[in-house]
Amino acid sequence: MMSVDSTQSMKMESPHPAAGVCPVTGFGGPTTALKSPTGCPVTEGAAEFDPFRGSYQADPAVALAEARRNEPVFYSPVLDYWVVTRYNDVKEIFKNPDLFSAAITLEQVTPISDEALDILDASNFAPGPTIVNEDEPIHGERRRALFQPFEQDSVALLEPRIREVINNYIDKFAARGEADLVDDLFYEVPCIVALIFLGVPDEDIETCRQFGMQQTLFTWGRPEVSEQVRVAEGMAAFWIFAGELVERLKKTPDAPGWIPHAIRVQAEHPDLITDNYLQNIMMSGILAAHETTTNASGNALRTLLENREAWEAIVNDPDLIPKAVEECLRFSGSVVAWRRMTTDDAAVGGVEIPAGSRLLIVMASANRDESIFPEPDVFDINRANARRHLTFGLGIHTCMGASLARLEMKVFLTELTRRLPGLKLKQAQDFTYLPNTSFRGPEHVLVEWDPAANPLPSDRT
Ligand code: HEM
Repeated sequence: MMSVDSTQSMKMESPHPAAGVCPVTGFGGPTTALKSPTGCPVTEGAAEFDPFRGSYQADPAVALAEARRNEPVFYSPVLDYWVVTRYNDVKEIFKNPDLFSAAITLEQVTPISDEALDILDASNFAPGPTIVNEDEPIHGERRRALFQPFEQDSVALLEPRIREVINNYIDKFAARGEADLVDDLFYEVPCIVALIFLGVPDEDIETCRQFGMQQTLFTWGRPEVSEQVRVAEGMAAFWIFAGELVERLKKTPDAPGWIPHAIRVQAEHPDLITDNYLQNIMMSGILAAHETTTNASGNALRTLLENREAWEAIVNDPDLIPKAVEECLRFSGSVVAWRRMTTDDAAVGGVEIPAGSRLLIVMASANRDESIFPEPDVFDINRANARRHLTFGLGIHTCMGASLARLEMKVFLTELTRRLPGLKLKQAQDFTYLPNTSFRGPEHVLVEWDPAANPLPSDRT
């Protein structure tokens, strides 16, 4: 695994001789016998890069610090992807969707086993493209047609309901003096909010919540065959359930929510929004909205409580919370890397990349690029340009749910600082993360406080 040890990074400062016109200067060691698809030598750091283990899992931004300095675009033989680490390169890729297609965004990083495929086939699991992995012009047409519920004004209407859901959860543990913020709050609330946003009736929320889990490993991880089979069974059942739910929602097309909105669009543009598309956005919408926000909130609380002065600052002045949310998303975002495929020969940061290549573009690394963010490893809730982070992507595919995610995180922080200002991290806990390329958040955040010092009683009367 590549080293982030500072003495090693000093050693690597001097460029090694590269073959031909290969522009690599190397990180983590000299070149190996391995070659990239363009025939350039692969350095030791690039050869050892494994996003499923070690330092990338601990912190991708730190793991790629040396690459950012010395070899900002490199070919990873373990992944068979080109890895892009600097802000401006990542930004240019997001802004050039014709050359960098989104088509592979939901492809399984680890190929699906035959056993899992059989299970999916048996349920007629056949999701076509959905918004996030479509290219122009159809992507833009559908995005525009489906956008209205995501507008900031529409999302703002959900704030009272989100606050109520969050407070109901906090009520359950406020008097306890200890909690796992992930298990007790952050896992379930974003799922419930996602389902409210989608327009799923209350009586179906519990069933939906069970289905919406564990897809991260399947798409972005390296699951064993037995794990793939388990998740495939859940996905197959969810696919069928999503189809039935859409059919039911068609009977109440005036209901609130994204799916009823899409059903109304379908009535006018049946070729644009097909039944398969509705079923697909029901399923992928939960994935898009749920664990992204769960993880972002877990990262935020861990970071704020580890930087006590920042926590105290938002306790004393809640108006700082929106800025704190942006800095949390920059410093420890929940979508750390995304994928694109070249449609033609391309050059990224001076590195030639052939047509048809796969790219892992690491936003967590870009968000620590010192050419954009001075002292990037310092967590500073007053940072003037924190909002330039790339955690929501950029350009035509920019996250449609960014307003909803920001609102949820704001309400989480507002209610936790208001009701449990004495919150602190339990000592000696190991933060663990699900091994995968793209989604990052602690599996548990153990906290404690003195309930007698809570400013409000647990029943909030
Ligand atoms: C902190 C939480 C979230 C993060 C970090 C996040 C991040 C992202 C990223 C990186 C993309 C891909 C951008 C690209 O390809 O350029 C994306 C797309 C998307 N997200 Fe989010 N997301 C979050 C929450 C949500 C929520 C709550 C929803 C609500 C349903 C949502 C819905 C979507 C949709 C529909 C797209 C596809 C947009 C398109 O391709 O045009 N996301 N998100």
